[in-house]
Amino acid sequence: MRRPIIAGNWKMHNTTEKARELVTLLRPLVGTTGVEVVVCPPFTAIAATVNAAAGSNISVGAQDLFWEDWGAYTGEVSGPMLKDLGCRYVIIGHSERRQYFGETDATVNKKLHAALRHGLVPIVCVGETLAEREAGKTLDVVRRQVREGLKGLVPGQVETLVVAYEPVWAIGTGRTATAADAQEVIAFIRETLRAMYGEEAKATRIQYGGSVKPENITELMAQPDIDGALVGGASLDAISFAAIVNYQQK
Ligand code: PGA
Repeated sequence: MRRPIIAGNWKMHNTTEKARELVTLLRPLVGTTGVEVVVCPPFTAIAATVNAAAGSNISVGAQDLFWEDWGAYTGEVSGPMLKDLGCRYVIIGHSERRQYFGETDATVNKKLHAALRHGLVPIVCVGETLAEREAGKTLDVVRRQVREGLKGLVPGQVETLVVAYEPVWAIGTGRTATAADAQEVIAFIRETLRAMYGEEAKATRIQYGGSVKPENITELMAQPDIDGALVGGASLDAISFAAIVNYQQK
């Protein structure tokens, strides 16, 4: 009942020309799948990406948004601006934003509500650092991020939401959580959401992220609570991203 969703987070990569090239290569490779396919370019390449993806199975997301709609907020980009470009999704609270740009559970929550207000599908990232995992605090950290970052939703919003569990130590390091570890934390996230919002949490899609590759996607997707992946490095190459999207055909 939960449609798998695989999203590529391009991070600070790709000019408009590169974005167009990548989507043009990707389009025929991901045409026939039941998976929801999303790519998230930097703001500057969103328009070109939407254009190149028109009429395909590929949707476009942003990597962040600001919580106010308009105003004197130099450098920020708002929900209405993303909608205007044809974005359908937006990543919120990626660990790089938390680590380098001071995002907190409180700012994540404001951004979440802004995204929903404008009909964008939020992909909210949570996950522990290596020090937190080694101190046995994984579940405490994730529980706090979910309770604080995802609070205040009303019925109908919980099922729209996508959560990405991304252990910080697995991002860009080549070190993936085992499928069993990822399943354990993701089931815990679902349980935390259920305690907050009831049975609607069964419909929330929860992705795994952190060094997802064609080699490990099948085992990850075989876990009962893992509904997709948020892919960084491997999404920059059309062949490897397509192989991830087409994990069912292996
Ligand atoms: P990675 O990044 O796949 O390169 O580890 C994942 C992410 O940051 O979303």
